[in-house]
Amino acid sequence: MKRFTTVTAALVLVTATACGSGGSGETDDGTITMGFAQVGAESGWRTANTESIRQAAEDAGIDLQFSDAQQKQENQIRAIRSYIQQDVDVIAFSPVVETGWDAVLLEAQRADIPVILTDRAIDSDDTSLYETFLGSDFVEEGRKAGQWLVENAEGETNVVELQGTTGAAPAIDRKEGFEEVIAGNPDIEIIATQTGDFTRAGGKEVMEAFLRSHDDIDVVYAHNDDMGLGAIEAIRAAGMEPGEDIRIITVDAVEAGMQALAAGEINFIVECNPLLGEQLMELAEKVVAGEEVPERVVVEETTFTQEEAEAALPDRRY
Ligand code: AHR
Repeated sequence: MKRFTTVTAALVLVTATACGSGGSGETDDGTITMGFAQVGAESGWRTANTESIRQAAEDAGIDLQFSDAQQKQENQIRAIRSYIQQDVDVIAFSPVVETGWDAVLLEAQRADIPVILTDRAIDSDDTSLYETFLGSDFVEEGRKAGQWLVENAEGETNVVELQGTTGAAPAIDRKEGFEEVIAGNPDIEIIATQTGDFTRAGGKEVMEAFLRSHDDIDVVYAHNDDMGLGAIEAIRAAGMEPGEDIRIITVDAVEAGMQALAAGEINFIVECNPLLGEQLMELAEKVVAGEEVPERVVVEETTFTQEEAEAALPDRRY
């Protein structure tokens, strides 16, 4: 458990009082200001995540300062520095990549502004740089994708992998989990792997290249729905049936992915829940109040077959 120390809490209170009279930060009426540095708008998942955060901030009466990094780490670092200058009460962000955050998070720590990691983790030995991490277990998601394939493989199986953004936690972890599970089955082999940057256009382009250089692809493992949807376009353009001639496994379960699964174009989806807003605001309120929060909050998730997607779609919120 982490605790925002009494000394630090007292400092924030002093800062808040000072800022409340005209600057940023917690105002006289107690309104919390959160600086949120989002990854970008690369996928359906990200759009749903942003909407969830905006809505939850509004519902909680939290003043949200929002920035879109367009999938560039330097933009996110610039946004975090600007939140430090504005003296916000709490900073939350979903890191584009895992490494390279220590310097800017140290600046936030020195300014006594607590940081919450959401969706993606960072790779740092210094866990005092952030209060808590709210997000999915990406390694487990990769394992679930691999498990389905192991259970549904039809003899020798050649897999092509569409990786997420290079250096991003979900790309690293989903690859690791998948490889861990298929390692026990010598019939399953990853014959090509490349990043599609979590976008539909990226997935399509990389899949087109895979199809040009390999005529023996059995399965696509895409690290998100958007890249899987791009792969569907490429497979169709090459005169094949997605979901039949080449089977497709993806991660996310956003609406467009679930519709493709229900239509038989995708064969299996591992859920990654983007609706983190409410939990994030609750954690932020606790952290700013100096209350204890867990170091790690893992999001509950499931998986979907075609039949399960058909049943779930009418009540799906994203
Ligand atoms: O970090 C979550 C991942 O980022 C989602 O799976 C993907 O769609 C997004 O771009």
